[in-house]
Amino acid sequence: MDELIKKAAADLAAARNVVALTGAGISTESGIPPFRGKGGLWERFDPMEIAHIDAFMRDPARVWNLLVKEMKTIVDSASPNDGHKGLARLEARGILKTIITQNIDGLHQAAGNTDVIEFHGNFAWQRCMDCSRKYQTSQVDISEVPPRCSCGGILRPDAVFFGEIIPPEAMRRSRQAAADCDLMLVVGTSAVVQPAALMPVFAKEAGAKIVEINPEKTPLTGQISDYLIRGNAGEVMNRILQQLEK
Ligand code: APR
Repeated sequence: MDELIKKAAADLAAARNVVALTGAGISTESGIPPFRGKGGLWERFDPMEIAHIDAFMRDPARVWNLLVKEMKTIVDSASPNDGHKGLARLEARGILKTIITQNIDGLHQAAGNTDVIEFHGNFAWQRCMDCSRKYQTSQVDISEVPPRCSCGGILRPDAVFFGEIIPPEAMRRSRQAAADCDLMLVVGTSAVVQPAALMPVFAKEAGAKIVEINPEKTPLTGQISDYLIRGNAGEVMNRILQQLEK
């Protein structure tokens, strides 16, 4: 691992435009469970039964009771960990330009990153399905579900359900960031959900170096990524920053 930490620090120092793609793995050290693998949310629920727009349309109260309420409790009490803070420090050093995140927890912004593309939306807001008015999730009264807008419409998370498209502006900006970067850090994603998992492919095609940080291999490992640093994001980011500061 030491050699790869030194290599990553050298590659980051030499890079001109660094972009990061992040997934649920970077937030596990903040107490937010991942989706897949041991202890993942999809071990307990079938994602097509609970996180697909058709499931929400069929029975919004069920999705609110089983998924949204629980996520609200977890996300409301979570705070950034050393993985998030490490990316914020890379931005503060002028190395990291943009984060493309699949996460809906807002922890990158809470850590201090200023250019965060929320590829799957953000859970901090609920949106009315009739008039599109937005409400801060922390202000929504969930004693009765589904909660309603003042117009009477049902409120839904301002996040992307399976079966929905990626917000067009997020898609456009992410493709651009991937095409323009010369190094992409891929942190804490299983890289199995499209089209987010295509971003490292676009970056690679444009000549960028791809560096993965993950305790496990992914479909990118050995195919698209130049190397994988096997470890938890918090520890690995701390060690890379230490090396950069040397
Ligand atoms: N540090 C770094 N990586 C970690 C850590 C950690 N501390 N803990 C777990 N991981 C890795 C796991 O090995 C796994 O590869 O993070 C990854 C988490 O994968 P998923 O749970 O599949 O999360 P993600 O890739 O973000 O899922 C993509 O799927 O369910 C949908 O919309 C949801 O945005 C999500 C998308």
